[in-house]
Amino acid sequence: TGFVIWFTGLSGSGKSTLTRLVSAELRRRGVHVEALDGDDVRKMLSKGLGFSRDDRDANIRRIGYVARMIARSGACGIAAAISPYRDVRDEVRRATEQFCEVYCECPIEVLAERDPKGLYKRALAGEIKHFTGVDDPYEAPADPEVRCRTDIEPPETSAQKIISKLEELGYIPELGAAARTDESTLTPPHGAELVDRRLVGAALAAARERAGELPVVGLDATAERDVVAIGTGAFSPLTGFMTRNDYLKVVGSGRLENGLPWPLPVTLALTPDLAETVEKSSEIALTDSSGAVVALLEVTDFWEIDRALEKESIYDKPGPNAPGLKRLEGPATHYVGGEIALLQLPKSFSGNATIAEPAANRKLLIDHGWRSTVALPMLGPMLRGDEFRARTALETCDGLFLQTVMAPELPFSLAALERWHSHLAQTYFRAERVICGSIPLAPRGVPALDALLSALVAKNFGASHIVVPHDPNAGPTGVRPIFDYYSPGELRIIPLCYEDVFHSPSLGTMASAKTAPDPIAARLSTPRSELIAGLGRGETGPPELIRPETLARLTG
Ligand code: ADX
Repeated sequence: TGFVIWFTGLSGSGKSTLTRLVSAELRRRGVHVEALDGDDVRKMLSKGLGFSRDDRDANIRRIGYVARMIARSGACGIAAAISPYRDVRDEVRRATEQFCEVYCECPIEVLAERDPKGLYKRALAGEIKHFTGVDDPYEAPADPEVRCRTDIEPPETSAQKIISKLEELGYIPELGAAARTDESTLTPPHGAELVDRRLVGAALAAARERAGELPVVGLDATAERDVVAIGTGAFSPLTGFMTRNDYLKVVGSGRLENGLPWPLPVTLALTPDLAETVEKSSEIALTDSSGAVVALLEVTDFWEIDRALEKESIYDKPGPNAPGLKRLEGPATHYVGGEIALLQLPKSFSGNATIAEPAANRKLLIDHGWRSTVALPMLGPMLRGDEFRARTALETCDGLFLQTVMAPELPFSLAALERWHSHLAQTYFRAERVICGSIPLAPRGVPALDALLSALVAKNFGASHIVVPHDPNAGPTGVRPIFDYYSPGELRIIPLCYEDVFHSPSLGTMASAKTAPDPIAARLSTPRSELIAGLGRGETGPPELIRPETLARLTG
């Protein structure tokens, strides 16, 4: 999130000068800045307000409100007003998450001597009444973050003190840190803390023993992936299957109960026979397709599914084949919510798969020294269109996280997809700039909501950017609007939304409608889903769109 710098001090004490110097330095460092100067604000936002205490307080509250909004959008809001009263300054401080108060300290004699606007002269002559410092009080801050002695300090020195304080507070990265990477250079997890619900040691042994006594609920393929995503932190901040309040808020307004953006319900559904048992239990065991207990769930909530509600708000656009919709229309009658503890990975995760885990992946990004990482979630094998997107994104990011989305619905084994992806990464990319890994993500078949969920997952893995391909099923506006629905400061991952990608005969390479001159009829393009279905039937597809030499990787 952004932050607020609050200058306070008498008229002429250097607030505007320091605002200019600090703004320039922040902009040089890539921070977006908006400044609210008392003199300007009084012409617009606070037009009509005078200099009574009430009017000054109203002025400060308005400036505080706007500065906070600027900070919330990820930028730096600077306020430069006398703000003579401590109470209202502290009120603004309390309401602002990241706040830096700068006191411009200068004796009134010096100001009266300088007096470029001639105001002190007039105030001292009694021509302006209630002039701050002359016949109106100024309450100096007791403990400002920065104190600038503007009578003796050169402005450059004061500006540097402020910049150093912002670094120290962690509001801006240290300049010297440009070459360093650590956890603070990565995108923070969604909700700030990475969740880890895996049991180890004695707790694991105890849970295994207890599991034998508990009622058992079998997980379907989607729930198996959800359990792992929750347990390993890929779905941070979720710590379990959603409770009713989270569920209703997500379905109603795309947010969790705590206000964090979340696009889709992550629920555990029960058939009527199971519902009866679960309702009476405080804990249940969750089993994979082989019958092994993979997780325990502490039952905190249990409610009847309102199919019409969920269908209307989540599945109103996609076709009837959306996996999430098919699932919703199954025989289940109730949802059960509560925290989970992960005992082991489901059997479907075993084999050659390299399952990426958020904490380990974040460490890997730090070790690579990447300050920006673009995630490319691949549902099925990477084709040349995907390569184009990956490559163009890599031109501006330090590294690529090539994610094989674990989707049992595809006609390829996970091991085959991993072989395919690592071969491409080794052969057609700078291998040291690519990390490959499989992620437990179950797309629900609603393009925009799935795209946002992928973005939150990618962020938990430490990515700063995510490739969002053009989706022909997402309607004329594509999936972009879902990212605009939230403020960038809430999402903190940058979606790179692509236009349709095709082979351009005139360029002899993959390109998009944005970059290639070819008329529509000349473009060589087949929807990705069709190409993948073809591959599943053993077809090879046009070599311009699928690298023929890669096909062998699918069969091992
Ligand atoms: S504040 O008190 O509400 O924070 P603000 O910074 O917006 O004041 O406006 C101060 C500016 O208004 C001064 O720099 C000066 O140019 C002008 N001004 C006019 N009358 C007064 C007054 N009575 N006291 C202080 N500043 C005044």
